[in-house]
Amino acid sequence: MAEELRNSVIIVGCGPGLKSYITPKALYNIKKADILVGSRRLLKLFPDTTAKRIILEKNYKQLLKKIASWSFTRQVVVLVSGDPCFFSYTKLIVKKFGRESCIIIPGLSSIQLAFAAIGESWEDAGFASVHGRSSGYKELIKKVKDYDKVAVLTDKVNTPARIAGKLAEAGIRKRQMFICENLSLPNESVHETDIQSAMKLEANGSSVVIIKKNE
Ligand SMILES: C[S@@+](CC[C@H](N)C(=O)[O-])C[C@H]1O[C@@H](n2cnc3c(N)ncnc32)[C@H](O)[C@@H]1O
Repeated sequence: MAEELRNSVIIVGCGPGLKSYITPKALYNIKKADILVGSRRLLKLFPDTTAKRIILEKNYKQLLKKIASWSFTRQVVVLVSGDPCFFSYTKLIVKKFGRESCIIIPGLSSIQLAFAAIGESWEDAGFASVHGRSSGYKELIKKVKDYDKVAVLTDKVNTPARIAGKLAEAGIRKRQMFICENLSLPNESVHETDIQSAMKLEANGSSVVIIKKNE
């Protein structure tokens, strides 16, 4: 059963990294925080807040208990990257406290930026993530077989090259791959390649990969 809180937890989507992509509504809610929880990278975006800062890393499960006790007397705001309802900590928070105890402020997802960068619509796309989950490849391969375009979240281990290797192992060799790195940041790079060439690529930061059937 979901745990009852006195103050709702506010979960704020902070977009892809560039401060001007953070919405005024997000900034307004961040100002309400007595306790601001987020990754080091996201906390750095808000140097002026007087809230107590709590770094979110591998401690995310233990933090849920603390969020519950802090929420009795203080306003907790949790920062997440991109959009909160797309592959984020939000799912665990809502499961623990119930939707009526959570206020979710949407943000611009890395996926939206990736599709915009390659000039493609995304209403007909499939989505997958291997971010922090090497177990996600089965689902990814199924999606690539089922959809003409699939957007994938990656990480330092599950890189675009590893994804390309897994596709080739599954017999999928004819696809365009768009590697969209560090979107909105000064070192942004977006380029198109194929599965063979992608297997040799070196990862260079945070990326979304779009896998598209050849036209
Ligand atoms: C935990 S997931 C969070 C996704 C987020 N909720 C969203 O809507 O974008 C983190 C992953 O999102 C992708 N990502 C986040 N920011 C990015 C950026 N600026 N450029 C490229 N990919 C990014 C990367 O695949 C990264 O490993």
